[in-house]
Amino acid sequence: AQTPVKVTVTGAAGQIGYALLFRIASGQLLGADVPVKLSLLEIPQAVKAAEGTAMELDDCAFPLLSGIEITDDANKAFDGANVALLVGARPRTAGMERGDLLQANGGIFGPQGKAINDHAADDIRVLVVGNPANTNALIAQQSAPDVPAERFTAMTRLDHNRALSQLAAKLQVPVTEIKKMTIWGNHSATQYPDLFHTEVGGKIAAELVDEAWLRDTFIPTVAKRGAAIIEARGASSAASAANAAIDHVFDWVNGTEWTSAAIPSDGSYGVPEGLISSFPVASRDGKWEIIQGLEIDAFSRERIDASVRELEEERTAVRELGLI
Ligand code: NAI
Repeated sequence: AQTPVKVTVTGAAGQIGYALLFRIASGQLLGADVPVKLSLLEIPQAVKAAEGTAMELDDCAFPLLSGIEITDDANKAFDGANVALLVGARPRTAGMERGDLLQANGGIFGPQGKAINDHAADDIRVLVVGNPANTNALIAQQSAPDVPAERFTAMTRLDHNRALSQLAAKLQVPVTEIKKMTIWGNHSATQYPDLFHTEVGGKIAAELVDEAWLRDTFIPTVAKRGAAIIEARGASSAASAANAAIDHVFDWVNGTEWTSAAIPSDGSYGVPEGLISSFPVASRDGKWEIIQGLEIDAFSRERIDASVRELEEERTAVRELGLI
């Protein structure tokens, strides 16, 4: 029998964790023939709740689930891990300054990065979901000098999927007819969903919609969708975030021709090297590659630059705080 793949999920007792774990255990993260072993990392106060979720996972009798470990010790949680989904994070609370938020998250993602560095399997792949995702991924990466830098990624797949859905509704086409969608930059309100390379039935999407809709409706709707969900649901996106995490890892491992992911920049498209920024990417042989050679018009350039500037400011802030 195949050796199970160890998947570590942090924040396992949270709402995304609850939507994510059952899908991983059912085979949707890696493939329907890959056995998995789950490792749940929580803070001490939430270990009991994670144990409750584990009882429910047992009760599903998933054929591919070969075991579940639950711990509040990062060194144990990441020991031998092949995939790490870093979901648990410190949310921004009322009156919290950006520096406090980055500091609090540095206290989570720094030690977790080190634990990954010291204990994870050689093929470890990391997806950071917890916000501010791009900069948390950078902190974890910088705390793991022995792990290849490109194994640290952050999630913009939810933004990508939101953009697909908004465009499909506008053009009254199935999402499957939309190709080459791209989210650029930071997973924040400055992100830029780009329709100038997106194709619908062989035509460029930006030419199928009017400019005012693109600028004043599409871009802000995608960028502020998280806030709209909170407003409507009274809680932040959870099942859709879990779904996007599944999509990201599945495509990373199994390959794709085109999607969006925040990965370390090699300097492409003027994004300073090392920033973990969202790009149009393909995945081949288990590695993300930035899709090259796209022409960036002035409208897009301005928006990509603004989001990348925000990422640079976050990097400067975490440097000044001594977190990287
Ligand atoms: P939640 O508050 O329901 O759950 C978070 C869990 O993380 C809690 O159970 C908490 O105990 C745990 N946790 C906190 N610190 C931890 C640590 N040091 N180690 C292990 N576990 C820890 O939050 P939810 O809704 O599950 O969201 C999680 C994160 O995902 C948030 O930061 C949220 O902003 C982010 N998010 C990101 C999205 C994206 O597109 N990148 C989309 C939606 C949410």
